[in-house]
Amino acid sequence: MMTTLTPVLSAHWDADKSWTMATYEKNGGYKGLRAALAMEPSAVIAAVKDSGLRGRGGAGFPTGMKWSFLPAPDGGPRYLVVNADESEPGTCKDIPLMLASPQELIEGIAITSYAIGCHHAFVYVRGEVLHVARRLHQAVAEAYAKGYLGKNVMGTGFDLEVTVHSGAGAYICGEETALLDSLEGLRGQPRLKPPFPAVAGLYARPTVVNNVETIASVPGILRGGASWFTAMGTERSTGHGLFSLSGHVQRPGQYEAPLGITLRELLDLAGGVREGHQLKFWTPGGSSTPIFTAEHLDVPLDYESVGKAGSMLGTRALQIFDETTSVVRAVTRWTAFYKHESCGKCTPCREGTYWLLQVLQRLEAGQGAEGDIELLLDQCDNILGRAFCALGDGATSPITSAVKYFREEFEAGMHTPADVLFPPERSSLFAYTPRPRKAQLAGVH
Ligand SMILES: Cc1cc2nc3c(=O)[nH]c(=O)nc-3n(C[C@H](O)[C@H](O)[C@H](O)COP(=O)(O)O)c2cc1C
Ligand code: SF4
Repeated sequence: MMTTLTPVLSAHWDADKSWTMATYEKNGGYKGLRAALAMEPSAVIAAVKDSGLRGRGGAGFPTGMKWSFLPAPDGGPRYLVVNADESEPGTCKDIPLMLASPQELIEGIAITSYAIGCHHAFVYVRGEVLHVARRLHQAVAEAYAKGYLGKNVMGTGFDLEVTVHSGAGAYICGEETALLDSLEGLRGQPRLKPPFPAVAGLYARPTVVNNVETIASVPGILRGGASWFTAMGTERSTGHGLFSLSGHVQRPGQYEAPLGITLRELLDLAGGVREGHQLKFWTPGGSSTPIFTAEHLDVPLDYESVGKAGSMLGTRALQIFDETTSVVRAVTRWTAFYKHESCGKCTPCREGTYWLLQVLQRLEAGQGAEGDIELLLDQCDNILGRAFCALGDGATSPITSAVKYFREEFEAGMHTPADVLFPPERSSLFAYTPRPRKAQLAGVH
């Protein structure tokens, strides 16, 4: 058994009533804020820069650098917006974090707000996860009652309001500028950049948008210091991260480990692939990152190594699929998601995801036509790099990578249905109800 876990954010998730202020304070909670308030705001930004912390929301942008992009204060408001819209298929780290340890996030919000000169922070949470929204509201109320939020935080003269806002449930509202439009009460669609949110974000004011896990990682850096953080991970991908294992794995769940750990090591910790089965393919960072296969088991899961191997670290959503899974069926399901979630603003994505799904459904049903694989790749080529935001690009990643590694399965889709080659009841982890073929062709929702 490997012992490479580094529980920091998840250290007290199994404590009795882990989500309460009492449990959080008992385990060192708000020491980071106390340390930060005794420093100059610029020194807090410098500490986060030195730690090398990179955004945990997918793109891995250096956090301290993002904060320092805000223009000099002009007397007007500046905002922190926490992106808690988690909804990429397979991604499931922010929701457990907010459920089990919401004060870690709130402490991070207070520290970040102090560092960037923000007096009103927002958490944009996915409205469907009502239990998480309720827990956040409760946690924010507890933090106000303790004087960690509100007027004159901990007697320092620093004021901070926090608003928890529930979104209506659209994947595109996780894209930071669509999120800002949605938060302003508009339809959630991406904005043209520049200007970037740092310059003109919420209500056209300087705004920092960061992921839940990014902000929740900040108190630890203030408690332990930048060198404590850089002692974990690799040279350019420092620190700890939540790796979410799901699918055909013995013990699915959240594994908090240093960046740079491999899937082989994580599978050792998780008891391996489902009993009696072998790994076929997996996603390193959610469904919009190119898939990997068993040949990538030893790729260090850091930004650089995963990129070099042809994918992206993304949100560390490791979805594990064994040999019973039809790659064509999995890719068709993901594509149906992207088609459904396309916001419709730009033609390559709005039209392209529709046409991708038409071809994939034919192949899944064993009714593909000669040339369909080339057609699929051509459609991907017409979306990638031409879409207005990263949703369109992400929709092509599972398709092009799956064709690269499993072309013969797509070829089989010209004569044999995927559910004949790979009976779904063998791959399903739950009781499976077969659907008539007509329904498969009509749509997968
Ligand atoms: C379609 C789409 C959905 C996204 N969804 C999320 C999300 O749910 N949560 C998140 O933190 N970032 C999401 N992002 C990334 C954000 O745009 C942004 O990069 C991130 O919130 C920045 O935070 P970070 O620097 O802390 O990673 C999404 C991006 C796209 C294109
Ligand atoms: S790529 Fe898709 S989600 Fe993004 S703006 Fe275009 S239509 Fe909307």
